[in-house]
Amino acid sequence: MLNNVIECAREAGSIALQYFRQDGRIGVENKLNDSDIVTVADKASETCIKQYIDRYFPSHSILSEESGEKSGSADYRWIVDPIDGTTNFFTGLPFWAVSIGIEHEGRKEIGVVYAPALGELFYAERGKGAYLNGRRIHVSSEDHMSRSVISTGFPVDKNINPDNNMDNLEVILPKVRDIRRLGSAAVDMCYVAAGLMQGYWEMNLHEWDINASTLILEEAGGYVTRFREDRGISLVCGNRAIHDQLLSLLKK
Ligand code: IPD
Ligand code: CA
Ligand code: CA
Repeated sequence: MLNNVIECAREAGSIALQYFRQDGRIGVENKLNDSDIVTVADKASETCIKQYIDRYFPSHSILSEESGEKSGSADYRWIVDPIDGTTNFFTGLPFWAVSIGIEHEGRKEIGVVYAPALGELFYAERGKGAYLNGRRIHVSSEDHMSRSVISTGFPVDKNINPDNNMDNLEVILPKVRDIRRLGSAAVDMCYVAAGLMQGYWEMNLHEWDINASTLILEEAGGYVTRFREDRGISLVCGNRAIHDQLLSLLKK
């Protein structure tokens, strides 16, 4: 099935890529506010993925960001973010990805994150390791915060909710080599999986943002846990040492 999921992500990614950097020719709508957007490319990518599942795995269930739940008779469930990083996509930055996770009987089995504008395909199967463009990846071995590059993100309701991650940033920024805000939770976690960054935390995420990349990170030897339960999915990750140090600093 991994090959099918990769093929599906590649097809959706190439469709999205046709809309990328097309100077104002891409349709966009607001969801919650001006910081929470969806484009015609998100919808085209999602349609492509759903058609693929209907064609090859019609009995499988689907959770996808733009069209919600579809329940099927089989114990397989696809968790789909058709474009993770839509703000980057719309403004023309390359950090966005198609993210597809597969669960069997509730357990993550396959994760595929395809970032076409970066030419990067991340994938993992439970128990078989994690890969970037066919090469095995591992989390960084760095265990000092002062030598770590850490990524984070800010919640889309930051305009009305003062619980917007600035408190965590204030505590963590002085302790690390630097902070990044890449704008795609899936890419953030895959970059931690590949040892390109040492850690990542964010709150108010959704299952489709992190399902595939969670398996990729774990198969790359990383740790990922949730640090609070009252703000969507709030997670922190890294190798064991960086994960633990970040966790001790985050507001619970
Ligand atoms: C968003 C990205 C972003 C994160 C947001 C997500 P979307 O996903 O992952 O990095 O900060 O919380 O909603 O909306 O581009 O699919
Ligand atoms: Ca997302
Ligand atoms: Ca999305």
